Amino acid sequence: MANGNRAQATQRPRRHFNLKSRVATCFLALIVLFGISLLIIWLVIGPKKFVYTLENGSVQNFNLTDNHLNATFDFVLRAYNPNGKVSVYYDYMESTMTYEDQTVAFNTIDPFFQPHRNVSRVETKLVALNLTLSPSTFKDLRIEKSSGEIEFDVYFKSRIRFKVGLWKSNHLTQRIVCSSVTAYLSWYKHFEKIPCEVKDYMAELF
Ligand SMILES: *[C@@H]1O[C@H](CO)[C@@H](O)[C@H](O)[C@H]1NC(C)=O
Ligand SMILES: *[C@@H]1O[C@H](CO)[C@@H](O)[C@H](O)[C@H]1NC(C)=O
Ligand SMILES: *[C@@H]1O[C@H](CO)[C@@H](O)[C@H](O)[C@H]1NC(C)=O
Ligand SMILES: *[C@@H]1O[C@H](CO)[C@@H](O)[C@H](O)[C@H]1NC(C)=O
Ligand SMILES: *[C@@H]1O[C@H](CO)[C@@H](O)[C@H](O)[C@H]1NC(C)=O
Repeated sequence: MANGNRAQATQRPRRHFNLKSRVATCFLALIVLFGISLLIIWLVIGPKKFVYTLENGSVQNFNLTDNHLNATFDFVLRAYNPNGKVSVYYDYMESTMTYEDQTVAFNTIDPFFQPHRNVSRVETKLVALNLTLSPSTFKDLRIEKSSGEIEFDVYFKSRIRFKVGLWKSNHLTQRIVCSSVTAYLSWYKHFEKIPCEVKDYMAELF
């Protein structure tokens, strides 16, 4: 009787302990996941943000006739990575130009690797070929054309990975927005560089 009681007494706390250790393991896993998320956020936000500037833009072969647009836009995006330890893989990048929320042109950019403390210039050529515009867009664009200045937005969307030493992060989706870009149709007016904003980073699990 006494033996049985003792056996029960020792068994009970052990079962209790198993449950505790399982909870502890789950807790630990959550903490590790949380830590990894924090690390990624730290890499993205701090210690130093990436800086993007639309440095150069020009328009060629601009022709706006009968609700249709032909034009070639050349842009240079300056990407500055000020970090001393973090380098970046741009595995995929696309650029989109919009005018009054209508997509005017789209292009993809060759993948590239940006080392730490580096300035890279990303060139993109955006071509609108016989693009059909909505009547109101056509009207507004025609007015801007006669003023010699066209204002639009340029977006870059990329899939990036960070590299710190030998460690590489998962893919993140990054959106860069360069809004209110002014292109001049007259040759004598120079493009004024504008700062671009990083809108969001979305982590991808795979
Ligand atoms: C911008 O483009 C013009 C003409 O294409 C060129 O002369 C100028 O050097 C460029 N500026 C920059 C900052 O790249
Ligand atoms: C614009 O395109 C129209 C239609 O293709 C053409 O008739 C016209 O000559 C072009 N204008 C210029 C300045 O290239
Ligand atoms: C745009 O280019 C195409 C092909 O070169 C031409 O057929 C069309 O008329 C052009 N449209 C305008 C508005 O210039
Ligand atoms: C930045 O990296 C690119 C690609 O490795 C290289 O071509 C370029 O010279 C570097 N620029 C600077 C300022 O280090
Ligand atoms: C350009 O668009 C107009 C109107 O939709 C069409 O009549 C013309 O054939 C197109 N030209 C080309 C080269 O696609």
